[in-house]
Amino acid sequence: MSQITLSTLDGAKAEGRRFAMLTAYDASFAQAAARSGIETLLIGDSLGMVAQGHGSTLPVTMADMAYHTACVARGVESCEQRPLLVADLPFAAANTSVDAAANAARLMQAGANAIKIEGGAWLAETVRHLSERGIPVCAHLGLTPQSADMLGGYRLQGRDEAAAARIRADAALLEEAGARLVLLECVPSGLGEAVTQAARVPVIGIGAGPATDAQVLVMHDMLGVTSGRKARFVKDYLAGRGGISDAFRAFAEEVRSGAYPAPEHCYGA
Ligand code: KIV
Repeated sequence: MSQITLSTLDGAKAEGRRFAMLTAYDASFAQAAARSGIETLLIGDSLGMVAQGHGSTLPVTMADMAYHTACVARGVESCEQRPLLVADLPFAAANTSVDAAANAARLMQAGANAIKIEGGAWLAETVRHLSERGIPVCAHLGLTPQSADMLGGYRLQGRDEAAAARIRADAALLEEAGARLVLLECVPSGLGEAVTQAARVPVIGIGAGPATDAQVLVMHDMLGVTSGRKARFVKDYLAGRGGISDAFRAFAEEVRSGAYPAPEHCYGA
């Protein structure tokens, strides 16, 4: 049995080997993803939308996150290759560094290996606080769904030079504060490439172009289950395949080979 660790992912970046991340919220799908070779699983607060039926991620609570993190952790426990588990701090759970540390500890005790937090420079002190206490942080930049109301909806970020420069600066600052991973959502491909080249830590993209060190998709999106308007970066991996495990394997293979994302899944340069 082997455990994917942050060192494994650092090594992948150093060697130019891309890796795959999927969201997971329950034991069965987490186990199927792990058995299909997905290296990292995100217990995302997207569960509020795809599992609980809310219109945004804002209603998701710490109790929800701890429950789903524990479900996923149990699911992968006996897998030959155990993925690294990243769990989201939900809306308002990181308002102060002290709150963030207590909430992150709860998710680590539920089985997470790292915590994801949405936000930029204002989180630097919190990232440092968590890192010093042994809690690895994934910084989430670009489109941060918990701030969708502030951003005017779910839209492309970093379009003009000033906004792109802010995202590049935030990534550098949060890495300097101790972030071990950066997740970059819905930005032009050129910005995804610039952040990835500048970062020493692995950068995971979703709608951030082909140059990031890894790609993540929401599981329900890549299985074609989500209804309504689809983001440009969504690809249905179940279509034309025999089953869910085939879809997971195809996603992982296309991420590793660079076949995903194709130009039609990306936002300009
Ligand atoms: O909550 C989530 O699933 C996420 C992904 C969209 C990256 O943050």
